[in-house]
Amino acid sequence: MKVLVVGSGGREHAMCWKVAQSPLVTALFAAPGNPGMAELAECIPWDGNVEQLAEWADQEGIELTLVGPEAPLVEGIADAFLARGLKIFGPVQKAAMIEGSKAFAKDLMARFGIPTARHRTFHDVLDALSYLETTGAPIVVKDSGLAAGKGVTVATTLQQAKQAAANILSGPEQAEIVIEEFLSGPEVTVLAVTDGVTIKPLLPSQDHKRLLDGDTGPMTGGMGAICPYPLAPGVLTEIVERVLQPLVEGLRAEGIVYKGVIYAGLMLTDEGPKVLEFNARFGDPECQAILPLLKTDLVELALAVVEGRLHELELTWHPLASACVVMAAPGYPDDPHKGLPLSLPRQPPEQVLYFQAGTRRGPDGLQTHGGRVLSVVGLGEDLKKALERAYAGVAAVKFEHALYRRDIGRKVVTNMA
Ligand code: AMP
Ligand code: GLY
Repeated sequence: MKVLVVGSGGREHAMCWKVAQSPLVTALFAAPGNPGMAELAECIPWDGNVEQLAEWADQEGIELTLVGPEAPLVEGIADAFLARGLKIFGPVQKAAMIEGSKAFAKDLMARFGIPTARHRTFHDVLDALSYLETTGAPIVVKDSGLAAGKGVTVATTLQQAKQAAANILSGPEQAEIVIEEFLSGPEVTVLAVTDGVTIKPLLPSQDHKRLLDGDTGPMTGGMGAICPYPLAPGVLTEIVERVLQPLVEGLRAEGIVYKGVIYAGLMLTDEGPKVLEFNARFGDPECQAILPLLKTDLVELALAVVEGRLHELELTWHPLASACVVMAAPGYPDDPHKGLPLSLPRQPPEQVLYFQAGTRRGPDGLQTHGGRVLSVVGLGEDLKKALERAYAGVAAVKFEHALYRRDIGRKVVTNMA
């Protein structure tokens, strides 16, 4: 079977790595891919136009497409492929709105009774500022549209909150913000696959969103992940029943059949799990930590989703833990340095995987070409061992001035000790 993976980040490298292991695959393509993916797949130049990619896939006879990032999903890549009768793993545009608009997602959660922070939506700066006067801080201000994980301000002062609201709402005319109640507790990511009827959760994981150790510094797309995150007994079932089922069933009742991955970012508050955000795809870097633990063939899984037979498939897992450490270019997230040299060991250390993201091939080897450059994943019989291996993997990379967190997974390991 000819398979296409769409995207060019660490998440998509991990997806390619997993897809390439499937005996069902006869040819693997990536659009646009990256140098790491090029070792596994034929990379096709692509500028982001979803219609053109659908046309190419149709001509090439691509039999299954898996989509990594949110932008093409929100652009309607699934609709474009389905219109040509092509199989695609990823939700249609209307369903991808759970990520494309935070205001839309918050309205859905209210309609379907899904636990989340209380919120208000604003388009007008003055309205938002006077509302903030009534809430005070701490308070959370979110850009409603796609912002690569960087559109959220957790404001500790009223001044900060007002600044964030004014910054977004003084932008494009259609700008929209969500102002929501500040929640506290550990964060967890629960991904699930669904064919619009059956829902199967993947192993819970935890991202690290802040740039610096101790959860300080600016928000990023994610600096590292661990899997599985040790949820208390019953919590995963609670999340499936109170969050994922109402979402999928509620959408279906409104005529939207969700097929693909649902990402629920949750805060485990004293009042139970509450949704911080929904995404319409695998998390990055959660995906890099989760897929190496999945025993089930990802191509079989994607086909079961696309063909509405997910109830037939049982997900199986390796009894291991994993840890992913993201190495970013100096200057990330605001202004990452491009063109810095880096090199990976010819033979990765034991139980270490390298997934490339913002890299390109220069005349003398790999160079940085984006913010998050590399995901280093360690596997082990427990999280402590997985972390040791991940950091051994980091130490084996030659990449001067790389930014990475030294404390991935530390809270969980400390709590387990
Ligand atoms: P989001 O993109 O909505 O998940 O927000 C990014 C990050 O901001 C989350 O991972 C949390 O760390 C933080 N965050 C979002 N919403 C809240 C909230 N209501 N209370 C506290 N922190 C939040
Ligand atoms: N790691 C956060 C995200 O993928 O949105």
